[in-house]
Amino acid sequence: MKLSRILLVVLILALALAVMGCVAVSPAAPAPADTGAEEPEAAQAEPAEVEAASAEMKSYEDLVVGYAQIGAESEWRTANTASIKEEAEKLGVELKFSDAQQKQENQIKAIRSFIAQQVDVIGVSPVVETGWETVFQEAKDAGIPLILVDRRAAVPEDLYVTYLGSDFVEEGRRAADAMAKILDGKGKIVELVGTVGSAPANDRYAGFREVLEEKYPDMEIIDSQSGDFTRAKGKEVMEAFLKTHGDAIDALYAHNDDMAIGAIQAIEEYGLKPGEDIKIVSIDAVRGAFEAMIAGKLNCTVECNPLLGPQFFELALKVVNGEEVPKWVPSDEDVYWPEQAEALLPERKY
Ligand code: AHR
Repeated sequence: MKLSRILLVVLILALALAVMGCVAVSPAAPAPADTGAEEPEAAQAEPAEVEAASAEMKSYEDLVVGYAQIGAESEWRTANTASIKEEAEKLGVELKFSDAQQKQENQIKAIRSFIAQQVDVIGVSPVVETGWETVFQEAKDAGIPLILVDRRAAVPEDLYVTYLGSDFVEEGRRAADAMAKILDGKGKIVELVGTVGSAPANDRYAGFREVLEEKYPDMEIIDSQSGDFTRAKGKEVMEAFLKTHGDAIDALYAHNDDMAIGAIQAIEEYGLKPGEDIKIVSIDAVRGAFEAMIAGKLNCTVECNPLLGPQFFELALKVVNGEEVPKWVPSDEDVYWPEQAEALLPERKY
C-alpha cells in the first residue's frame, strides 16, 4: 500500500514537471526578449505613443502665464495678488503680472501684450463686467485660453474656459440675513456700493435687496452710493450719508470691509459709536474686519476668499494639457461674528 502511494505521488510530480516544461519552452509563448518581430502592430506602438503623449504634457515649470490684475484697492486685493505671486514662485511658473490701477483700458492693454508674447494661459480679474468681448475674442483667436479669476465678465461662455471665484449674489443675501438678525428685522440702512459696474458691486447689491424684499419688509435702504471698494472713498461717502441723514441711520451695509473701516472713522468723527449707534455688516472677512469686530465696531463680516493662487494654477495646467475643467469653480466661504473674532484672528491668513 505504502509503496503504491509513493509511486502515485512520484508519477503526479513527473507529470506536473513535464507540463511546466512544455509551457516554458513552447514557441507559442516566447520569452519577453524574443517578442519583438512577432508582436502585433498595436502592442508595438503603445510605448512610443505613451512617450510622445507625456513629452507633450506640460508641467508647472513649462507654463508661462499672464495675469491682468485690477489694482491694489483693498486689503482683499493685496492678499489676492500675494496668493497669485507666491504660488507661481512656489510652483516654478513663469508669471507675467500686470497691475491695471483700477482701469479697464490698462487691463485690455495687458491682455493684448500677453497675446503678443504668446503666453500659455491668461488670467484676468475684470474690473467691470462689460466691454470685454473684443479682447477676449482676440485671445481666443490666438489660441490662448483665458481664465476669469475672482470676477465674472458679461461675455458669451465660449470666450473663457472657466470662472474661479465667489458667488457674489449669495454674499449679498448672507449680508441681508445677518443684518436682519442684528436689527431684529427693522431699521433704516445706508449702503456703500463697490466699484460701479463691477460684478461684486452689481451682485451684492442685488442679493441684499432680493432677501429684503422676500423676508424683511421693515428694513429699508434709505441711501446707496459707491465707495469704490476703498477706505478713503468709504469714509468720504459715509460722511456725506451722516450729513444728510444723521441719527436716522440705524445701520450700514458695506460691499467690502475696507469701505466699512473707512466709514467707522467717519462715524466716530461724527460723534457716534460704530457697531452700537450704527450697526455695520460688510463683506470680505479680512484681518482688519476681525480687529474691528474685536473692538466692537463691526457687527458681522461675510467671507469672500482671495486666496485663489493654488486653484488658479491648477486650472491653468489642466487647461493647457487639454483636461476638462468645470465652467465655474466656486469658493467655499463663511459668515463671521464678533463672538468668534478673537479666537479666529490668529489663524486668519488675510
Ligand atoms: O472682487 C472682490 C472684491 O474686490 C472684494 O470684495 C473687494 O474688497 C475687492 O477689492
